[in-house]
Amino acid sequence: MNALQRLEEFVLSGQAGKKIRVSGTIREVTPSYYRVSGLSKFVKLGDLLGFDARGKTQIGEVVRIDQDGVTVKPFDGRIEAGLGMRVHHVGDISLSPDTSWKGRVINALGEPLDDLGPLLPGPRPMPNEAAPPSAMNRARVDKPLVTGVKAIDLFTPICQGQRIGIFAGSGVGKSTLLSMLAKCEGFDTIVVALVGERGREVREFLEGPIRDNLGKSVMVVSTGDESPMMRRQAPRTALSVAEYFRDCGDSVLLIVDSVTRYAHAARDVALAAGEPAVARGYTPSVFSDLPRLLERAGPGEDGKGAITGIFSVLIDGDDHNDPVADNIRGTLDGHIVLDRSIADQGRYPAINVLGSISRLADLVWTREQKELVRRLKSLMARFEDTRDLRLMGGYQPGNDPELDQAVTIVPRIYEALRQDPSMPLSRDAFLDLAQSLKA
Ligand SMILES: Nc1ncnc2c1ncn2[C@@H]1O[C@H](COP(=O)(O)OP(=O)(O)O)[C@@H](O)[C@H]1O
Ligand SMILES: [Mg+2]
Repeated sequence: MNALQRLEEFVLSGQAGKKIRVSGTIREVTPSYYRVSGLSKFVKLGDLLGFDARGKTQIGEVVRIDQDGVTVKPFDGRIEAGLGMRVHHVGDISLSPDTSWKGRVINALGEPLDDLGPLLPGPRPMPNEAAPPSAMNRARVDKPLVTGVKAIDLFTPICQGQRIGIFAGSGVGKSTLLSMLAKCEGFDTIVVALVGERGREVREFLEGPIRDNLGKSVMVVSTGDESPMMRRQAPRTALSVAEYFRDCGDSVLLIVDSVTRYAHAARDVALAAGEPAVARGYTPSVFSDLPRLLERAGPGEDGKGAITGIFSVLIDGDDHNDPVADNIRGTLDGHIVLDRSIADQGRYPAINVLGSISRLADLVWTREQKELVRRLKSLMARFEDTRDLRLMGGYQPGNDPELDQAVTIVPRIYEALRQDPSMPLSRDAFLDLAQSLKA
């Protein structure tokens, strides 16, 4: 219970049950936030406040508190606050997910977006910003996972409970790759957060390969036209849902597309709160919010389920040193890089095999597989390094057996790695590769 609730209780106790609400007054309204006086001593950061307009309570979050008042950032994009309106405390955003939510599409506040009727609340509320399980109690991440995407299963294989990022500029194929991963069979539950996407892309995702898995999926959607508060909330809501299923013992796949849009939203909120910008307009709190969010994915405590997190990261202007991308890369257990130049050649998924790593790959590969992958990568590196030389006609077969081998085999590997969303997933990527190379 916070100070404001305690005060309300105190006032109510002297009033023999008469309903009285403690409220503040709106003193300033801007396009992105409003300021309330009278509540400074009774709220803390993150509390929810609201005012009543058009028969509904319009809620917002306290993002700054000072002597003169508190700054509130509303969840609804259109600010309908007016001077003098009374602002009161509203509960918190905790959500009570339920198994019956599978197959549903919800917004960042856990309200249904589909027309399948109201959502049944589950057995217990999940905190909006849960702390990750403590490092000492977390189960180990060592159970291999078959994603069915050949380039990933061969070169950056992942384990259950791993967190991995997909890094690329816009239009290189992040969302398409995520939608292919959503078809993966190895999970009990799939939770997808679509953050800041266009409405059309949300439809495409829902009607894409995830169709086969819709019955075990919960989709949390916040489109680009929604307020930064909603976009910042969507991945948190998705995590609360994923944590619920993890605690039920499920192996959960969490997909967030994209974390960058979450960072943009967190930046908007922090700027409204008056935080200074430090790196490319990002405020310090963005860089502490990101690991807090990403760290919630991962294995649960021993004996519980795990959340395998796959996060897409937009590289603005294909700049891989973007501070947000750097921060995310440092937090995750691996990154898959998609390259525009590969996509331009029509090779999808446009995974840059040599630039991608999975920090847990050694737990998945057998010794022979590891040796084979090392060998294939060195051939690919040779092939890519000599690309310009070969284009200029400076390559003669017969002088360098290693290069000759690279030139014959690498294009066939590339061909074998091609996969589009309409193709079936691969059950054994090594077997598939061997077969395509033999053919
Ligand atoms: N695996 C694939 N097979 C065929 N085409 C693809 C594939 N992945 C991406 N594309 C093409 O690239 C376009 C952009 O992909 P998208 O996933 O929307 O990119 P991003 O999410 O990175 O902006 C798609 O519309 C599609 O034409
Ligand atoms: Mg996309």
